[in-house]
Amino acid sequence: MDEKSIKSCNSLSELEKLRVSIFGKKGYFVGQFAKMKTVADKEKKNFAQKLNKDKEYFLNLLNSKKMQLESQAIAIEMKKDRVDVTLFNSTSEAGALHPVMDTMDKIIEYFVSMNFSIEEGPLVEDDFHNFEALNLPKHHPARDMQDTFYFEDNMLLRTHTSPVQIRTMLKTDPPIRMICPGAVFRRDYDLTHTPMFHQVEGLVVGKSGEISFANLKYILKDFLKYMFGEVEVRFRPSFFPFTEPSTEVDISCIFCKGKGCRVCSHTGWLEVLGSGCVHENVFKAVNYKDVSGYAFGLGVERFAMLLHKIPDLRSLFEGDLRLLEQFR
Ligand code: PHE
Repeated sequence: MDEKSIKSCNSLSELEKLRVSIFGKKGYFVGQFAKMKTVADKEKKNFAQKLNKDKEYFLNLLNSKKMQLESQAIAIEMKKDRVDVTLFNSTSEAGALHPVMDTMDKIIEYFVSMNFSIEEGPLVEDDFHNFEALNLPKHHPARDMQDTFYFEDNMLLRTHTSPVQIRTMLKTDPPIRMICPGAVFRRDYDLTHTPMFHQVEGLVVGKSGEISFANLKYILKDFLKYMFGEVEVRFRPSFFPFTEPSTEVDISCIFCKGKGCRVCSHTGWLEVLGSGCVHENVFKAVNYKDVSGYAFGLGVERFAMLLHKIPDLRSLFEGDLRLLEQFR
């Protein structure tokens, strides 16, 4: 038994061996107490007292050494596991908004700033809201403008966000000033069409004579400048069953500044919106009287492609990280 080897011990297993050699069954103290028998009677008391003192001393010595070694081991462990939270990690990956959602947000931001409310409607629609109430009776040839996914019982995947015009007018009285962003579906797939895409619809209704084509022109021009910067805007006569008059809206090509290039098919113009004054038959279908209004609809993917110069619409839906990483 030796004090020095305890004091200089630097491993817990070593210390355990020392403890056994001192306090174990075959250890020092068991041996010493066994010697009591041979000690002379008058010495016995002193001998026992000295042994007990020694015992206490070594117990304390071993315990404090054990505590010291244990906290050393913990300190070493902690050092190994240390995390430097200030360390710059250049390999960590950050996500980003998908360009379609980013574009959608920008569009919504404009109209919210102009005091439009946001409405939503179901993706699975019925024939009445998607067509009939929008002045598109059954067998009307204009239904072919939108190749439709049909279910049974007059149900279908909505081909545009215009049914939300109907839903909003049926549940609220005029005036109305709303947009509806959301997914729509058509049986189409090529460079500029995917079976699912997104639209933002707009509808403004007020008292008869209060809302005019001039209001429509103003807001769309202002909106398109907000989205694309200084561009020319032109309104071209067109046809939609639910608006009269109807116009398609073009901006001067943002790639060639109107000179003519491949993207604008050498016309100098890019078509970006459908719009018009709400047809009287639409107001009839929702029982609105003595009102006037305008509506418009746009494809969000088309806006995203133009804003980010993306040549193939389908690439927006393939989830290829190499495309998405560019928008971080
Ligand atoms: N719903 C039309 C489409 O999907 C767009 C549109 C909306 C046109 C509102 C006029 C008014 O093509």
